[in-house]
Amino acid sequence: MSRKTTISLIKCDVGSLAGHHVVPEPLFDIAEKNLKKAKEEGLINSYYVFNAGDDLQLLMVHERGESNPEIHKVAWDTFQEAAKKALELKLYGAGQDLLKTAFSGNVRGMGPGVAEMEIEERGSDPIVVFAADKTSAGGFNLPLFRIFADPMSTAGLVIDPDMAGGFKFEVLDTIENKKIVLKCPEEIYELIALIGTVQRYVVSRVWRARDDLICAVGSVTRLSKIAGKYIGKDDPVMIVRAQHGLPALGEILVPFMHSYLVEGWMRGSHWGPLMPVGIKNAKCTVFDGPPRIVALGFQVANGKIASGNDGKPMMADLFDDPAFDMARREAVEYASMLRRMGEFEPARLGVEEMEYTTLPQILEKLKEHFKPA
Ligand code: F6R
Ligand code: MG
Ligand code: MG
Repeated sequence: MSRKTTISLIKCDVGSLAGHHVVPEPLFDIAEKNLKKAKEEGLINSYYVFNAGDDLQLLMVHERGESNPEIHKVAWDTFQEAAKKALELKLYGAGQDLLKTAFSGNVRGMGPGVAEMEIEERGSDPIVVFAADKTSAGGFNLPLFRIFADPMSTAGLVIDPDMAGGFKFEVLDTIENKKIVLKCPEEIYELIALIGTVQRYVVSRVWRARDDLICAVGSVTRLSKIAGKYIGKDDPVMIVRAQHGLPALGEILVPFMHSYLVEGWMRGSHWGPLMPVGIKNAKCTVFDGPPRIVALGFQVANGKIASGNDGKPMMADLFDDPAFDMARREAVEYASMLRRMGEFEPARLGVEEMEYTTLPQILEKLKEHFKPA
């Protein structure tokens, strides 16, 4: 039996610089310090701290399995400490996503977003970690479909005998809180029927059908459902495994060659174009966006992230590449088109999603002024 390794990506908006814009250095320093300590104590084997816009991202590799209370506590304590610092510095939205006060063994349902995957290490295990800001988990439905089910996007579905039999998708109904597993190619149309409704149905896991090898996990949270009101979008993360009988790195990235529309952006209330960017541009500006996504490549090896001569994890900043210039240009063009429509639908989200924003407060005030028509 091969070695079991767990990849935990836990993220939280604990406060940011110049509005809901970017995680500043003092918060990174706290995350680095705490994860270094967790590593020295033998709790985790490797870590990588980064940001997607105003979200602080903690990638931890360890051997304690998914939903481990000690691992979740490291993340929770780190977010608490960073939020305290953010408050001291009067950073914007200090502690924004920390919706509960007492830690109860798992950060799920407490505000932070989580994607975790326990894998049996293969001969070599490349992974891609995606993190997006100013959007929500349904924004990953389209690329996940392209990567694991669309033979016009992933050549391996057609060419590689190891992918014969296709992939299974776990889809969560975020309204009824139920889940279903659909197998592609057999149930491809049913899958699209569901996950095309990106605001309700979200892909949470993908397995290779022939042997149930775990291939992808996404974070699915509805902060509004936890808090009962709009608290910022659920800025999603996901982990995808690559190569050798799974989609190749390039097949995982090719769906991002074009920009596409996701919900979120300003006040979590608009459709906006997703813009793939390198880490240096993982910060939202125009109309608090456009929503951004980063993709970081790693090798998981012997319970750790493979590191270089300096002992630091080796990271490939995958969207920091001219091959994504076209998507970035498209994102700016779509952004400009949508903003020309201002607050008129469909630039603004439909009325159901607006329920969770501050718009109902405005409408409430008008109620008494309405007269029978
Ligand atoms: C989106 C987001 C921002 C804020 C906006 C208003 O997820 O966080 O777009 O909604 O900047 O923020 P407040 O109400 O804090 O001024
Ligand atoms: Mg924020
Ligand atoms: Mg955010």
